[in-house]
Order: sequence, then C-alpha cells, then structure tokens
Amino acid sequence: MITCLVDNAARRSSRLWAEHGLAFWIETEAGAALLDTGQSGEVLLHNLNVLELDAATLRALALSHAHYDHTGGLPALVQKITPGLPLYANADLLRERFSQSTGKRRSIGLCVDHAWLEEHLTLHLEDAPQEILPGVWTTGAITERPHPGGYVPRQEVRAGKGYVPDPYRDDLSVVVQGVEGLIVLCGCCHAGLLNTLEHVRRHWQQPIIAVAGGTHLVSADAGTLESIACTLAEWGTLRRLYLNHCSGEEAYYILRRRLSSDVIRPCPAGTVLDWSERA
Ligand SMILES: [Fe+2]
Ligand SMILES: [Fe+2]
Repeated sequence: MITCLVDNAARRSSRLWAEHGLAFWIETEAGAALLDTGQSGEVLLHNLNVLELDAATLRALALSHAHYDHTGGLPALVQKITPGLPLYANADLLRERFSQSTGKRRSIGLCVDHAWLEEHLTLHLEDAPQEILPGVWTTGAITERPHPGGYVPRQEVRAGKGYVPDPYRDDLSVVVQGVEGLIVLCGCCHAGLLNTLEHVRRHWQQPIIAVAGGTHLVSADAGTLESIACTLAEWGTLRRLYLNHCSGEEAYYILRRRLSSDVIRPCPAGTVLDWSERA
C-alpha cells in the first residue's frame, strides 16, 4: 500500500496538514519505506500521527533530491526512526543548491551536512539504481534526457567561483514492483517525466501501470503536455497518473482531458494509491 503522506494539499476533512512539499509512505510485505520527508518536521510528524504510521517501523528512507521541500523534515524524522536507518539517494545529494527567484541568492538544498547524515543514517549514495526493500528500487540517476526536463529558472549550483543552472543530477524516482506491473513514485521529477519513465522502461523492461507524485509540469508548454499524453497513450499500460506537488493545475486539466479522468487523479496528503483496473 502506498499513501501520500505530505503534499501541497490535504484530503478534505482529513485533519491532515498541507505544505509545499512531498512524502510518500510505502508499505510492503517486507516492511515500510519513506520517499522524502516534506518541508517541515511539524507537518511530517503530524501527518504520520493522524495516519497512525510509526516512523520507528521504517526499514528504508529514499530522498528524491536535495531540495528543502523534500528533505526539510529530516531533523524531526531522525528523532523517531531506528538509528542507522539506511538512506538511499544519489551521490550528488550533498551538493549545495541555490535559488535566485526572489532576486537574492538563497540556499534551497539540504538543511543538514554530510557529518550529520552519517551520524544518524547509513548512507547509500549511488548513481546506480538501488534496491531499498525487496521489490522497491530507486531509479538511479536519469542520465538520458531527450525530452524536456522540469528545470526551474534561477535554480543554481556552484561551479568554480561562480554559479551555473542546476543540472539536477541528484534527481531520482522510486520504482515499486506490483503484481501486474511497475508503480513509479516521483519527487519533483526535475529530470523530466518522460525521461524518467523511459529510463524505468529501459531498465526494468516491464510495463508501468501507475505513476504518482510531483512531475514538475507546472511550466510545461502545450506541446510538451501533448507529447506526454501521446506517449503515455501509445504505451497503453498506464492505469493511473496521480499528479500532485509541482505538477501544476493546467497540466492536470490538459492531461485529464486527453487521458480521461479515470487515469488522471489528484493526490493530496491522505491519498491511498489504487491502480486496479476498476477502482
Ligand atoms: Fe519539490
Ligand atoms: Fe525540487
């Protein structure tokens, strides 16, 4: 069972809190894993409590990328987990990230450093896909990006004495092996939705039946959205595309018109994913 734990929106009348951020709780027969921590410990711990999920039972933590809205809950989370919990992420996670969206450069990456991570967690920072629980993997680095990415203007990393646009080398998603096919969970999908899904199809050689999370289509143009809709329709395997976080309302409505309201679903905090044929 996969539950959206943190999102920009929360299910109505649920008592869950919303914030700009993302986290998914992944429950499998082999135990539970968490993808991302949301932006704040306050929301993360509140929502865990409301959903009666115990962070002490986690067997793995994956981070989709370094941005604060996916990693800001880390300091609160480590107070609740078993010390030394395995953390799976890309090797580039530790690089500083900046934004100049407000005109002044500010840090938008991890709020903790390498030493802090090593003190509380067992680090597995790799470019290659990693199996975090039986049947649950990180995608590893998305290196082939022929389609548009989810790039945000004025987000930067250091290069020498200056700054360059963030290449989002750290961006990854999580792949869950379902009985009937693969479920892909995205954080922000800065690598690009189609780039990520094509990577998963190449690597796992199995049909993708559901996708959920932040897809960073918020600034995608009509041509990009049309191309995504065409490709997904051509594959003919996708039963659900749960859009939340940084996906954007326009993308939601355009894709919903093109791919049907049965496929395109909202995904506020509290949503339990369902990819059965007749939900
Ligand atoms: Fe994000
Ligand atoms: Fe991001």
